[in-house]
Amino acid sequence: MAFTQAILKQCWPRWQQHFSPETRLRLGAVPLAVLADCPSDVVGRYLSAAELEQWSGFHLKKRRTEWLGGRLSAKWAAAGLLNKAEMDWHSLVIQSEEDGRPYLAAGVRPVAPFISISHSGHLAAALAANLPCGLDIQQPDAKMHTVKKRFATPEEEDLLTAALPQSFTKTEQLTLLWAAKEAVRKMVRISPLLGLLDIRLLAGHGGRSTPQEPLALTFTASRQQECQTNISVLCFFTDNLAWAMACPMLIKLS
Ligand SMILES: CC(C)(COP(=O)(O)OP(=O)(O)OC[C@H]1O[C@@H](n2cnc3c(N)ncnc32)[C@H](O)[C@@H]1OP(=O)(O)O)[C@@H](O)C(=O)NCCC(=O)NCCS
Repeated sequence: MAFTQAILKQCWPRWQQHFSPETRLRLGAVPLAVLADCPSDVVGRYLSAAELEQWSGFHLKKRRTEWLGGRLSAKWAAAGLLNKAEMDWHSLVIQSEEDGRPYLAAGVRPVAPFISISHSGHLAAALAANLPCGLDIQQPDAKMHTVKKRFATPEEEDLLTAALPQSFTKTEQLTLLWAAKEAVRKMVRISPLLGLLDIRLLAGHGGRSTPQEPLALTFTASRQQECQTNISVLCFFTDNLAWAMACPMLIKLS
């Protein structure tokens, strides 16, 4: 988890400017290769009995590894947010709602953070925050061009092209937009989940799209119009993965 800890420590002052001042968040991430052949006695140090049973029940190794990576990353991020120097990993239990949304089970004090989990390519990652949050990581994929009509409008593409450095390929641009919208879908608690075209890009604010200088995107969600809230998503590329973190952004209404 040293990677995300270092990123967060170095970048938080800049990231904080894009979220509401009261926002606190932590990231966790773990390379999947480390977990692929982990024996159950090692895994059992971090999972509750019920979690361990669920982990053992996955037949596909890829799914088992990704699920474990997401759980470990989320526990790590939540422990950081709770300022726990020594964490009883067994008591920090992560469960899923019927629709798959992960949450920290009751019993966490003072208050359970919100969590969001994602896995792609070689990594699993999680975000823990004191406000509803969404995380998506995504490997650039040429398939984005084929499905682009399902998630990107020409206006959004123009906004992104203007906001991103010219060195970004079209595939990278589309991957970033996809990840950002997935992060928003995970953040907004609505059933069924928002469609990707229900989420509209309003503005993009500079940045080289690196962890140090992230791109800040502002979205609105069409089924959320009654809410006085836009959604801020910080995006960057690192290690051939697009990262997108969504948190509510409070705006003043005149
Ligand atoms: C949920 C969804 C956005 C995940 O995105 P993805 O890019 O495919 O995959 P990611 O690796 O980024 O994210 C997977 C994680 O998202 C989380 N997730 C799943 N459902 C979620 C939801 N409804 N809200 C928020 N997060 C959710 C889970 O933690 C999952 O990891 P886990 O299963 O290992 O715990 C996507 O799979 C989706 O749209 N699913 C349809 C959900 C749906 O309509 N379900 C109805 C069944 S009742």
